[in-house]
Amino acid sequence: MRDMRTPLPGRRLAALALVAGAVWLGFGSAARAEAPRRPQAVVLAPGTPAGEALLVGNRAGTVSVVRTADLTLLGEAPAGANITDLALLPDGARVLAVDHGAHELLVLRPGNGDWTAPGPFPAAAAAPLLEVEAAVPTCRYPVRAARQDASLAVSCLWSRRVQMYDLTGPDATAGDLDTPRWVADLPFEPQEMLFLGDGKLLVADGFGGGLAVVSAADGELLRTKELTGHNLRGLTLLPDGRLGITHQELHTGMHTTSDDIRWGVFITNSVSLMPLDDLVSGNPRLGRRTRIMDLGDVLTPSGDPAAMVVSPEGELVIALSGVGRLAFGGADARRMSHARVGRGPSAIAADGNGLLYVANTRSDEISVVALAEQTEVARIPLGPAAPLTAVERGELLFHDASLSLRGWMSCASCHTQGHTNHRLSDTLGDGTYGAPKRVLSLLGVADTKPWAWDGQIRRLEDQVVKSVRTTLRGRRLEEREVSDLAAYLRTLELPEVGAPVESALLAEGREAFDRYACNRCHTAPVYTSPGVHNVGLTDELGHDRFNPPSLRGVRFRRALLHDGSAKSLEEVFEVHPGLGVEVSADDLPALIAFLRTL
Ligand code: HEC
Ligand code: HEC
Repeated sequence: MRDMRTPLPGRRLAALALVAGAVWLGFGSAARAEAPRRPQAVVLAPGTPAGEALLVGNRAGTVSVVRTADLTLLGEAPAGANITDLALLPDGARVLAVDHGAHELLVLRPGNGDWTAPGPFPAAAAAPLLEVEAAVPTCRYPVRAARQDASLAVSCLWSRRVQMYDLTGPDATAGDLDTPRWVADLPFEPQEMLFLGDGKLLVADGFGGGLAVVSAADGELLRTKELTGHNLRGLTLLPDGRLGITHQELHTGMHTTSDDIRWGVFITNSVSLMPLDDLVSGNPRLGRRTRIMDLGDVLTPSGDPAAMVVSPEGELVIALSGVGRLAFGGADARRMSHARVGRGPSAIAADGNGLLYVANTRSDEISVVALAEQTEVARIPLGPAAPLTAVERGELLFHDASLSLRGWMSCASCHTQGHTNHRLSDTLGDGTYGAPKRVLSLLGVADTKPWAWDGQIRRLEDQVVKSVRTTLRGRRLEEREVSDLAAYLRTLELPEVGAPVESALLAEGREAFDRYACNRCHTAPVYTSPGVHNVGLTDELGHDRFNPPSLRGVRFRRALLHDGSAKSLEEVFEVHPGLGVEVSADDLPALIAFLRTL
């Protein structure tokens, strides 16, 4: 078994040696062999019929079950549509699953399946290992759950809110999930959350650099902070009271030249350690008091940091999801050491005995890592899957930082979750350096031909080749890789937000959109058109003709126009009135109300 590099302390050693090599055989017909599982959440449940078990939430909608005593995969249970997070309920046996795909919260409890089957071969399950005790509708696009005692917080990505539920102690029931205690609207799409311990909840932006401190008692927004980094992940409290956040940063004024990328001055992958008090109190010196640790260097790839855990001794462990590694180091380390795991490590669960369980999202496995030795000691495949489709292969490439020079970034570093990190980047998009452009969202990109701000790209495949060559400075792609990536891009869709609530204001806005002939350039149904136009805006290099951005999903953009100079829809018309037409101040509220529904 190729993963047995260092002997594991203790009793599990013998069992481990058996697991990874053989686990496929007995998986049997009960396993779904269709879509890849794409594990993206892990939680240790100490109170199952097997004792401690690792539960794995999969994008395929299933939850896989691994008995940790002998690292045996017991099987998987269908649960929902797309499980993005799991939180242990107070009884230690049941878990709450966040079903992003069905917009539901699920309570899962151990079923009558065989939790004590002898390893290493899991038997084809006759009875389910887990049962859905309750499935309760929640906000649109729930993404993470965090529990502290009887408080359960759920972040809702595209609906831009966090909701708090009260659980009635160990016997928490579905009824507890019927109505949230409070709902807090946020100025960004929230994803990761962390209870700060003093009645506060920290919430981080899923795309850009927003942080919010919310009162856990009533949802009041106590503080917001905009960091210069983006892709904020891995919120962790250190034993010394500091807050750790993993993130990336695009450095202003730098270019996608091979030199800027190689030396790590274009984009960096880091963990920031910041004094919590300064963050919560809004101390303007926060920036200076924050320690930024680089996770890689010119020789050590570190693209796309994700989850982070910290040991009781203060050792940080960070999943580098773009390059299939874990980074290790103390909070004062000068340089992190790295260990290899599977593809796309994105979530980590730590047991109390020095073992880490890492969900390798893109290779459908769990890596078991010994913290002290900093080595992977076993790998548990989650079961057979059908051969990958072109779209699935393209998705792997999109998130693979080894496509870039020295592994500093993937497509997802800027086009986060297919959307955007809301930053500017000087990428040779227009053939020159010196006029950084807003990173475009790729949601709905199939329909917005031609592509790029200058509207010069007529085949999505050409943009793929160009992005890898001049943005990532990566290797030459094979023909099939190009078409796979393009096939994946064509599947990226805007979130479904439902039909707008009709109102007089909306009708007025729709009428104004027609009256001003906005349709001439922003033509329904995609609200763009193929040409380029001068609407009175010029970039740093004198380019003044741009392809009209599609207005579909415009509400999800934080910065607008090619240079991000408008910070809101209002500003598009106030700061830059010359979009080919003068919009009167009287029409603006209605027009904007209409744009927000697209
Ligand atoms: C460093 C940030 C960055 C990375 C990494 C990146 N892009 Fe982009 N992308 C941009 C920017 C900025 C633009 C707009 C450039 C322009 O038009 O001048 C863009 C534009 C695009 C567009 C055109 C979208 C439209 O609506 O016109 C596509 C498609 C695209 N990128 C795909 C990719 C792919 C595929 C990868 C990975 C191979 C990738 N990008 C990596 C920053 C990035
Ligand atoms: C002559 C073509 C044309 C007309 C007419 C036009 N636009 Fe645009 N629009 C553009 C172009 C080109 C841009 C990009 C300009 C830039 O970023 O420098 C743009 C940008 C925008 C943006 C910012 C989108 C983003 O993602 O940055 C909004 C919003 C917008 N237009 C709305 C409207 C509305 C509403 C009307 C009618 C009142 C209108 N436009 C009329 C061509 C046009």
